Amino acid sequence: MSKQGKPAKKTKATMAAGADKYALYRLSVQDPEHEVSMFLRFYKDAYGRLPTSLREDFCAAFAVCCEWVRRGSDRTAVGVDLDSEPLAYGRAHYLPTLTPDQRARVRLLQQDVLQTRERAEVVAAQNYSFFLFKQRAQLLAYFKSVHRSLADEGLLVFDMMGGSAMYANDVVEGRQVARPTPADKQNNPPFRYVWHQERYNPITADALFHIHFRFPDGSAIDNAFTYDWRLWTLPELLELLEEAGFSARHIYWETTDQDGNPSGNYRRATEGRPDPAWLCYVVAQK
Ligand SMILES: C[S@@+](CC[C@H](N)C(=O)[O-])C[C@H]1O[C@@H](n2cnc3c(N)ncnc32)[C@H](O)[C@@H]1O
Repeated sequence: MSKQGKPAKKTKATMAAGADKYALYRLSVQDPEHEVSMFLRFYKDAYGRLPTSLREDFCAAFAVCCEWVRRGSDRTAVGVDLDSEPLAYGRAHYLPTLTPDQRARVRLLQQDVLQTRERAEVVAAQNYSFFLFKQRAQLLAYFKSVHRSLADEGLLVFDMMGGSAMYANDVVEGRQVARPTPADKQNNPPFRYVWHQERYNPITADALFHIHFRFPDGSAIDNAFTYDWRLWTLPELLELLEEAGFSARHIYWETTDQDGNPSGNYRRATEGRPDPAWLCYVVAQK
């Protein structure tokens, strides 16, 4: 009842209101199993053996750390993120999916990646997080700090995207994403993931992106995540990595299948196709 004694107005329970934005993010843009397989392969290509220690920079809810420790009883992972909210989400939702032994091999640090000195064989920075460093000096300082903290046989891995489609304002792309049906069999229809590039400034290479989620009942979570980034280019990154002291630097470019479609496999390459939108991995050896 309201203060005036009238029945309180009911707010409509929308799908957006009941949604968990971190779960939707994970379903839309994360594939920790694939990421860990890639890191292991890149490391084996570089050093001829498999690594045990991972540092996940910009780890948010540290889904990759959790997958890493699942993939071997000798594997340890450290997640580093500035923000307590996604770390708390991962503690509440992802850590409980691990066994006690796996859980004991994950450590979390609420810290600036520029300050951390955590040593590891693999340092991974996924989902383009380094784009948030807009100044050359900042990005160089990050690469130098990773270089210092890597083990002697150490590898920095991050993903990278680009292409002419990114040099534009108001680009909106969406796709339907299926959700697993919950155990209680409640209706759990697919939602729409929307990647929105609001603007790009060719003078600074700054770009502003948002992730929105849209639901079949017409409700939405607008700006669930917002990214204010600088769109670096691959040659800039390769030069900075060399300057930071990395002895070898490789681009793993996506191969195509017989029909010319992206295959999901990545190989070292020195020449890539200038598709309007492309993704690749950058791998740097200490
Ligand atoms: C784009 S999200 C990446 C999430 C995750 N790595 C993934 O693959 O989806 C960027 C994350 O970086 C964190 N972050 C931003 N600046 C940071 C810094 N200087 N040091 C540590 N974490 C930072 C944010 O809190 C956010 O969780």
